Amino acid sequence: MRFISTLVLAAMWKQASALPHTNSNVLNTSDRIIPPNSTLKPQHFTWLTPSADDDRAPCPMLNTLANHGFLPHNGRAITRDIFLKGVTDALNFDRESVDRLFGGALGAVPEFNATSFDLGMLHVKNFIEHDGSTSMQDVILDQQSSVYHEPTFSNFMSYIPHDANTISIPAAAAAKARHFKDMSKINPRFSILASQQTPVMLEMASMFLVFGPAATTKEKGADRAFFEYFFRNQRLPVELGWTPPQTEILFTNASREIAAQLVKEIPTDVPFLYNPGEGLTERAGTEA
Ligand code: HEM
Repeated sequence: MRFISTLVLAAMWKQASALPHTNSNVLNTSDRIIPPNSTLKPQHFTWLTPSADDDRAPCPMLNTLANHGFLPHNGRAITRDIFLKGVTDALNFDRESVDRLFGGALGAVPEFNATSFDLGMLHVKNFIEHDGSTSMQDVILDQQSSVYHEPTFSNFMSYIPHDANTISIPAAAAAKARHFKDMSKINPRFSILASQQTPVMLEMASMFLVFGPAATTKEKGADRAFFEYFFRNQRLPVELGWTPPQTEILFTNASREIAAQLVKEIPTDVPFLYNPGEGLTERAGTEA
């Protein structure tokens, strides 16, 4: 293990606070003119940190969209219409995929026939939420698991080559596997079941689509600066020059394709699946 070496560090882990976040409305758009052909919307230039009363999810992107006001800032009562407009405006994903994501979120709502969800409802262990997040602590270590945790993210990033400006698919897959191993030493109930392998990689794949090169190129990689800024701040990296692509991202198919490549690149010298019930670690499967 390269980054975490002792149990002492594990104790410090809980205490550590996040790096200072960009916590202002410096990008407020009131005096900005957005060119007519731009994919940027006024909300890309506004951002407000959540208050203690606001709901937030274990998903850094949904939190980000709420921080920008693409989704309600309080994180509650997100209807299909609000979600469709918010996600397509923010990221230029196709509507069909966004609609499908919304349907998935409704599955977490306890009420029968619900038509909206709150971000806080997504904290359902092993529904979508799982251990080994890239930037948040496991639920067993922090009941909230919706706030950025610098030691967790630094641990993940320690496995990305230091001189890489672009995060490649093999690098991300290897970092995820090695990060899981480290997290399993901190969380005695650490669990990643076979059924969670593809969802984990779909989450990572989304980063390649949002922060990768134009959808029209074959080259696959996520811009490291955008990736780091996004996770650290739960904010879109507009001030670093990021914009949603001009061409709509066909999210469902594209993310499946990248997730399958990520699974293929999982290193063979480290386990990826952990089943504490059986006291076993397993090798990764091959399908995504
Ligand atoms: C309604 C739609 C969505 C739901 C219900 C949802 C839910 C979740 C949940 C519960 C997690 C936590 C997984 C964990 O425990 O680490 C998560 C992680 C993640 N989500 Fe979402 N999400 C949604 C949409 C999106 C979208 C549109 C993106 C676009 C980029 C996205 C990107 C991510 C990423 C990158 C992670 C992984 C973070 C990590 O590795 O720690 N999500 N999502």
